[in-house]
Amino acid sequence: MSSSVLSVESHTIPLSDGNRMPIIGLGMSGDRRKTPKGTAYECVKLALDVGYRHFDGALIYLNEHEVGQAIREKVADGSVKREEIFYCGKLWSTFHPPELVRPALERTLKTLGLDYVDLYIIEFPIAFKPGDEFYPKDENEKFIFYKTDLCATWEALEACKDAGLTKSLGVSNFNRRQLELILNKPGLKHKPVCNQVECHPYFTQPKLLDFCRQNDIIMVGYSPLGTCRDASWVNLKNPPLLEDPVLISIGKKYKKTSAHVSLRFNAQRGVAVIPKSFNPERITENFQIFDFSLTDEEMNAIENLNKNVRFVELLMWSEHQEYPFNDEY
Ligand code: A2P
Repeated sequence: MSSSVLSVESHTIPLSDGNRMPIIGLGMSGDRRKTPKGTAYECVKLALDVGYRHFDGALIYLNEHEVGQAIREKVADGSVKREEIFYCGKLWSTFHPPELVRPALERTLKTLGLDYVDLYIIEFPIAFKPGDEFYPKDENEKFIFYKTDLCATWEALEACKDAGLTKSLGVSNFNRRQLELILNKPGLKHKPVCNQVECHPYFTQPKLLDFCRQNDIIMVGYSPLGTCRDASWVNLKNPPLLEDPVLISIGKKYKKTSAHVSLRFNAQRGVAVIPKSFNPERITENFQIFDFSLTDEEMNAIENLNKNVRFVELLMWSEHQEYPFNDEY
């Protein structure tokens, strides 16, 4: 993608279904225990003022009521039009059985107070036992998995798009085999427009990105800044991404931070980024990626930082038959 097409005012990329996605979004996933009530609400309002038009949310982030309220208020006061905003919601793993898909999306819409989401994606290709618990466990603290039929779940998603509850459909954390399962499904009505996966200079995903490009699937990079490094769920074998000397030195040339360089790297190769921040200065900082561009040599140097090691391995689910990260890509 030519970097010249990206600007504060115009930074959307086309999706295969005719819709468009802003290439940078605010990630809304945070540690609830450390996040005061009202934080997500304030962050979304600020982000809209700064220029963000894309919000990456989920039912399991437990803040959709705040995100929705902020969006509705900014639309109501005329700051922004609903059509300019792109909200991504996610189907959690306890709602994979087809009959639970639409109710899950309707629950998200009700919580948001919106008529539709712009994108609805399968959050993870493994299923848990349906019920009130998002993380069902047995008496031995083992996760209770559930049978998974990704094609049947996908057909239920297709019906949600047809009913106007979401504009676009996608997946997250799918490997190549799982993407092919959907793409080759007999009678496929709507293709996934995106696959949201971990992607940053230490995990650049060259093979999956190639496959996605060949199939008109946008890659959306989560943890584009290398995560919060919370040892309870992050693989800390890799050093902190934002302390990388190459990223810092490239940034210095443009009076930019290593965060800017990491985000710009992905945006410039057509990978959407959803940096999470609940800090006003960093929310503002992370959006400033449209006033510089990286040379081909710099893009190559950053690509060469790839260590092919995930920060987000989710090994506690690795025994599920659809655990996606055992395949090469
Ligand atoms: P905070 O919410 O306090 O800003 P990722 O998007 O890769 O998951 O990274 C998110 C983590 O990085 C969060 O802990 C976030 O903390 C922090 N963060 C976000 N933006 C920046 C930045 N520009 N510089 C340093 N850390 C950042």
